[in-house]
Amino acid sequence: MDRFSIIVGDITCSDAEAIVNAANTTLLGGSGVDGAIHRAAGPELLAECRTLGGCETGQAKLTAGYRLQAKYVLHTPGPIWRGGGHGEAALLASCYRSCLTLSAERGIRTVDFPSISTGVYRYPLPQAATVALKAIMDFLAEHDLPERVRMVCHTEDAAQVYRQTWNFWYAESKTDRM
Ligand code: APR
Repeated sequence: MDRFSIIVGDITCSDAEAIVNAANTTLLGGSGVDGAIHRAAGPELLAECRTLGGCETGQAKLTAGYRLQAKYVLHTPGPIWRGGGHGEAALLASCYRSCLTLSAERGIRTVDFPSISTGVYRYPLPQAATVALKAIMDFLAEHDLPERVRMVCHTEDAAQVYRQTWNFWYAESKTDRM
């Protein structure tokens, strides 16, 4: 699938039309990628977020990107990992689907994701990668927009997990899909 790729980098430097923020339900900023995006976007981002009234886990809300190169930020609160028996996988899949649905509705052509919930929210990376890749690949198979989606991993180690997971489920040689 040439519409999807896995890269290593800092999502705040992304040239995508929209970047995704791994937010919390208040949408009022935090640490991790949330903190980095707010720092790079500047105070106008928080000012707009204050008008949104928060966001439910698994849903997504769109704002402008302000001082970011990205025109838009899609804010989505991921699930906090509590062992896997509390609907975490469905909520994480919903984060990706909600961001992609909102992007397609707004005619956004390129979207970059961070690895949602795998930092402060402690979602184990291999499980998160399996959920994320299935949600993204299923959406792209059914929609023409976005034209390009990337998973922007902050470290080479994280990218390796995503690449191994992608190869396991989606490498051309595989006939059985997830
Ligand atoms: N670019 C790309 N990825 C990044 C960056 C960055 N600049 N900074 C961090 N990451 C990666 C982390 O390495 C992790 O893999 O983003 C992933 C998500 O980690 P967190 O940012 O901790 O997000 P999450 O686990 O979803 O927890 C969300 O943390 O920052 C707070 O307000 C946020 O309460 C919310 C919680």
